[in-house]
Amino acid sequence: MRDMAAQHPDQGRIRQSFRRGLESYHRNASVQAEIAARLAQMLQEEGAPGRFGAALEFGCGTGHLTRQLLQRFDIGSLVLNDLVPEAALGLKELQPAPPQARFECGPIESLVLPQDLDLIASASTVQWIPDLPALTAQLAAHLKPGGWLALSGFGRRQFHELAALGSGAAAPSYLDAADWPAVLPEGVEILAVEQAPAVLEFGSAVALLKHLRQTGVNGQARQNWSRRRLQEFEAAYQARFGRGGKLPLTYDPVLLVARKTG
Ligand SMILES: C[S@@+](CC[C@H](N)C(=O)[O-])C[C@H]1O[C@@H](n2cnc3c(N)ncnc32)[C@H](O)[C@@H]1O
Repeated sequence: MRDMAAQHPDQGRIRQSFRRGLESYHRNASVQAEIAARLAQMLQEEGAPGRFGAALEFGCGTGHLTRQLLQRFDIGSLVLNDLVPEAALGLKELQPAPPQARFECGPIESLVLPQDLDLIASASTVQWIPDLPALTAQLAAHLKPGGWLALSGFGRRQFHELAALGSGAAAPSYLDAADWPAVLPEGVEILAVEQAPAVLEFGSAVALLKHLRQTGVNGQARQNWSRRRLQEFEAAYQARFGRGGKLPLTYDPVLLVARKTG
């Protein structure tokens, strides 16, 4: 894969960034909330059954996708995972309460996965995984034949404004819809894939940076903002991308539903 395994993200830094943003994440992550709803809806549209006996969701965060899944499907046992241990707290507030749920903390890449899963789902997380072919092969090996995979990440235009202005906030695995067939292992068939940008607008650079901090999505950034640096950043952003005095920020969500065939 082009540029994919180039950087290995500092998972301690990513964890810190999401942990700091966890409380504000749920309120501020409006794009991720819409993505989670759409991903669960796509599963239904592709004919997923009303009940999944055993399911795993990784990168569950504050539970945007968890809630959508629990509202739309009957789930027997549910393993939730996140890098951030505090994500376990949100589990207690889930409605409807999943009958058999447990939380496992740590990177999904090194989690001991349950066998014979009927569903593996994850929203807005796979962009943080440097070796996605290895992870998806692992995931597929733990799905039952006929089991479902519902994933969302972000494409190469994610935060393109920040990239153009030299920010180091990029996650390691931005993949377009067209990249996914080469990432998934043999025996996993893509049923639906969607990529559609969503643009948020901010009144100032401070508001934009606050949004990034509150949602934890700039986990790789190492910027100390002096007053002067902030003014230069805002002027450069306005000059290149400004729209009627506002600063646009592009999210580039990619959503897919796939099934294990064999
Ligand atoms: C943008 S949030 C998405 C949260 C939630 N799925 C949603 O849709 O709102 C990404 C989450 O992935 C978690 N994460 C990042 N890398 C991870 C990894 N390697 N294993 C498990 N979780 C990870 C972060 O801690 C964070 O909670």
